[in-house]
Amino acid sequence: MRLTRCQVALAAAITLNLLVFFYVSRLQQQRRRGSRAIRPPRLSHSAPDSRVTVLIREFEAFDNAVPEVVASFLHHDPTQPIVVAADTLPYPPLALPAVPNVRLALLHPSLDQPAAASQPETYVDTEFVALVPDGTRAESPGQLQRMAEELKNTHARLVASPVATANPPHCMALEVNLREWTASYGPAPDPPFCDALDGEVVVVVRTRDLFNLSLPLARPMSTSLFLQTSVRGWSVRLLDLPFAPARQPPLATAHARWKAEKEGRVRRDALLRTLGMRLVSWEGGRQEWFGCGKETARCFDTVVGDTPSYLYEGRWTPPCCLQALRETARHVIGVLEAARVRYWLEGGSLLGAVRHGDIIPWDYDVDLGIYLEDVANCEQLRGAEVGSVVDERGFVWEKAVEGDFFRVQYSETNHLHVDLWPFYPRNGVMTKDTWLDHRQDVEFPEHFLHPLVPLQFAGFLAQAPNNYRRFLELKFGPGAIENPEYPNPALKSLAGSG
Ligand SMILES: *[C@@H]1O[C@H](CO)[C@@H](O)[C@H](O)[C@H]1NC(C)=O
Repeated sequence: MRLTRCQVALAAAITLNLLVFFYVSRLQQQRRRGSRAIRPPRLSHSAPDSRVTVLIREFEAFDNAVPEVVASFLHHDPTQPIVVAADTLPYPPLALPAVPNVRLALLHPSLDQPAAASQPETYVDTEFVALVPDGTRAESPGQLQRMAEELKNTHARLVASPVATANPPHCMALEVNLREWTASYGPAPDPPFCDALDGEVVVVVRTRDLFNLSLPLARPMSTSLFLQTSVRGWSVRLLDLPFAPARQPPLATAHARWKAEKEGRVRRDALLRTLGMRLVSWEGGRQEWFGCGKETARCFDTVVGDTPSYLYEGRWTPPCCLQALRETARHVIGVLEAARVRYWLEGGSLLGAVRHGDIIPWDYDVDLGIYLEDVANCEQLRGAEVGSVVDERGFVWEKAVEGDFFRVQYSETNHLHVDLWPFYPRNGVMTKDTWLDHRQDVEFPEHFLHPLVPLQFAGFLAQAPNNYRRFLELKFGPGAIENPEYPNPALKSLAGSG
């Protein structure tokens, strides 16, 4: 078939039309895509999905190698995003390079700045963050990206690389018990997966995970980070991709180290109190207490309705308070025994002794019964009849304002106490003249006290009524031993505490 000239011209026109149409529509598509990109062009050369911001938080303003750390990362990638975070403007000033990808974040709010300016997440727009301790050198390019890639391929929520210093990381198990205010470190069962690391490490974590913690940048970072991550059940994988130490490491003088350690201890103490950790146990049995002592106030408010404040917070008696109660009970019982005052474990204290040989883990005082006629045998009790007596070990003996009983406080400032309830026999029944509105505050047959029997309690042997199961059922009702309950279930019950 032969084509006419006219047909050829028509075909050419249609083809040209189609070409123009495709060109214009592609142009429009590109423009639309362009307007959708809100972010500025990416700074880093690395794959966009494993970009990592270097975050330097753990350093001392008075002596640090932060400029060297920053320079070492910029050396391998001049566009590496770096954030140096400090509470307030470091002094003496940090010599940081004036490039837009290195920023200083001041975490204390400033009167003339918006709240976002003091929030560290404002400064991070990458998917990952590397928490880099002072004194760390990036020695090879792409090391952080490799860590981020490892993080994508593991069930751990964080990865860590050692910094080759004298303080290599130690992989640990960490059990945090919020209800009992405790943190316990132990050997990690499954290294290189750890709950916590001790020592110098670079940690890479997803940005959204880091800033979803309760206190993402609280110092000391190693204590704060792993307490928070282990509570969430996140583990950290220790990698073998070591970083080098800085050429001029920080804290090189003994004085600088002493100062840093001193300030570190203050920070650690404040952090653990803030996080509600009152007893930290280490591998090997060393214990650190963060809580009330003889010179501090009792660490909970005056108890209302038999229900201490901590029960409403879903927690039990702080360990320091239990310890102070044990100490007070031991002291008081020692004094009573020396003065030949007949006493016995009463109420909740007897219940605890029978259940597990100790104070009930949510109890807030210790109760003892005594024979009223024996009060005269004891100098401290005689003194308490007329005023308040501070004995030679600092315990305070007094007549309770609430009723006809004695109270021995741990100290003049710390009002944790042992209550002594005087009873007298009448026709074979132990009775008293004033009663509190408590189910267990009732008369009972004297034969429970003949004889008294020794029972393990709070780390020593104390006297208890014989046949104590029947004694307790008389006071608290059947099943009291087997079915633990908070002191006032109408206000707060054990079952409803979650
Ligand atoms: C933040 O944590 C909460 C639980 O603590 C979780 O429900 C939420 O999904 C987390 N958000 C992100 C962005 O991971």
